[in-house]
Amino acid sequence: MVIPTNFPQRASELRDLINKYNYLYYIIDNPEVPDSEYDRLFHELKQIETDHPELLTADSPTQRVGGKALDKFNQITHAIPMLSLDNVFDTEQLLAFDQRVRDWLNTSESQVYAAEPKLDGLAISLRYEQGVLTQAATRGDGATGEDVTANVRTIPTVPLKLTGNDIPEVVEIRGEIFMPKAGFDTLNQQQIADDKKPFVNPRNAAAGSLRQLDSKITASRPLEIYCYGLGEIQGMNKPDSHSEAMMLISQWGCRISPELKRLTGIDECMEPITHLGARRESLPYDIAGVLCKFDSIQLQQRLGFVSRTPRWAIAHKFPAQEEITIVEDIEIQVGRTGALTPVARLKPVFVGGVTVSNATLHNQDEIERKDVRVGDTVIVRRAGDVIPEVVQVVLSKRPDNTVLFSMPTHCPVCQSEVERIEGEAKARCSGGLYCAAQQKEAIKHFASRKAMDVDGLGDKLVEQLVDEELIADVSDLFQLTLEQLSALERMGEKSAVNLINALQTAKQTTFSRFLFALGIREVGEATARALASHLLTLDVLQQADEETLIEIEDVGPVVAHHIVTFFHQAHNREVIDRLLVAGVNWPEEQKVSSDSMISGKTIVLTGTLEQMSRSEAKDKLLGLGAKVAGSVSKKTDFVVAGRDAGSKLSKAEKLGVSVVDEATMLGWFSL
Ligand code: IVH
Repeated sequence: MVIPTNFPQRASELRDLINKYNYLYYIIDNPEVPDSEYDRLFHELKQIETDHPELLTADSPTQRVGGKALDKFNQITHAIPMLSLDNVFDTEQLLAFDQRVRDWLNTSESQVYAAEPKLDGLAISLRYEQGVLTQAATRGDGATGEDVTANVRTIPTVPLKLTGNDIPEVVEIRGEIFMPKAGFDTLNQQQIADDKKPFVNPRNAAAGSLRQLDSKITASRPLEIYCYGLGEIQGMNKPDSHSEAMMLISQWGCRISPELKRLTGIDECMEPITHLGARRESLPYDIAGVLCKFDSIQLQQRLGFVSRTPRWAIAHKFPAQEEITIVEDIEIQVGRTGALTPVARLKPVFVGGVTVSNATLHNQDEIERKDVRVGDTVIVRRAGDVIPEVVQVVLSKRPDNTVLFSMPTHCPVCQSEVERIEGEAKARCSGGLYCAAQQKEAIKHFASRKAMDVDGLGDKLVEQLVDEELIADVSDLFQLTLEQLSALERMGEKSAVNLINALQTAKQTTFSRFLFALGIREVGEATARALASHLLTLDVLQQADEETLIEIEDVGPVVAHHIVTFFHQAHNREVIDRLLVAGVNWPEEQKVSSDSMISGKTIVLTGTLEQMSRSEAKDKLLGLGAKVAGSVSKKTDFVVAGRDAGSKLSKAEKLGVSVVDEATMLGWFSL
């Protein structure tokens, strides 16, 4: 068949255009055309290729959607082996590394390093011939890997064709393929909805997605890449330094880490280590640590390797977020609203920077899904401040004769019957405030910082007071006497006086804190605030019906139902009356002004404030109709930076968000 001459030309134009738009969209995050235009061009190219299959090329963006499934992966021998790195876990070991290498080089001079995050994904080698991606291989055993070209082509941040002029005849670019946390969460929700096994962590999900024989599956997975180095190169001299190599890689249209830094001396490397460590949770992807590499390629070559690890680089690892341990028991915890949560008692293990001996198992369905049993060896995960969680059982280590866990039919604390409402994941104790566990949790919540803020009334003391039958509900707190308190074991005279004073101080509160403190199901801080600012008084709230409540922003039918039910119960009304008689009070609520200059604005507080606590500032900002968020994003209107503000401040500066000081914020309050 004769192909009209304009087809090959048009196909080539379209490929270039689409690859360029891809680059603008995925690599530099700066789209130039609307999606509709992109789609139109894409379809045009697809049509030409369908009509003229001989015009299909390896760098065609249509190949990103995945193609025919393979029956196996071919083996590929790496031209230059893909190595692994030595690890250190603290500053001392890092300094020792630097010293060792300088001794080896016989120099006392500070060395130039390049530092970048050690991404938690899997290594890939991308081979470009005349600028076109021809092969992608996994690391494998370092000498040979697997040919995963069809899969890697589907990853939008991997260029199918390099850009720019100075492109070597052959170049191998190496990088890490990973799955961002958000994509991982969505994928796992989908896996569970489809009755498929969820992935243990983003790294496993990335590895599993890349090792699919059917590239259409890979195409549906949210994979990304950051490139971190060069392998084989032909037709061009090797650059002089790692940072130069990274510049070239970036100019060719590949994505490199925005965190890459060139530093002089190992001391300077501590900065990104501390900084990235502090930001680990808020980064959109998992990192395992920070890599420090000698920047000079000449020095890298001089230093060479010891067995299979280079002498010129080191990984400063962060504490592992996953560890293996043993489930010694499964116990039931009864929460404030009676919800029964099974908790695994673990052989203590150091994970995510702390020693963990309990992990939540959430509910019966989760236990069944994960099939966790007493005696099992499990993988425990603790990332940041989140509650430690059992992610998976190591079945190969399961002892004989383990027993399946099942939820008790009666509350382990008060022996009331356990009920599980259709459609709810949690089983609940039906004992209500008769149940000592629920009493304790309700009182702890009432006294907590964001509720009535009773200084010095910690969890242990609440438990002691309930166990000694000195209190049974929150109103009993205000009847406690100095004699009763001082007679308690482990309680000194002075602490008893302090507590009585703290209770006295706590009586003066705000309507929204009081509402939150009552512990009505599903009424969190924000809902309590919305209720207070719309209904203004307790009387109005107590008489409101569900229809009235639903009108309020933040209140849905379920919450409305919980609120009405709560105030219908005679017991709850009595407790409230006793609290008011005891002197709990708050200033009259003012309608939220919608004309203050910060009304409707999203504000983030960071650093230490001098004139008031952050929680006071938050209350005031909310009172003026602002929203107070915990993290900085493009949607943030202002960041209020106090003393020693850290990563939130840098993020605001990076995103161009307005930063104001405490004095400016005080100005808003006095307007
Ligand atoms: S450079 C000699 N840079 O870590 C090996 N590796 O432990 C030089 N990795 O297999 C590798 N992020 O999969 C390098 N920014 C980064 C990296 C990185 C993650 C992985 C990579 C490698 C492993 C080495």
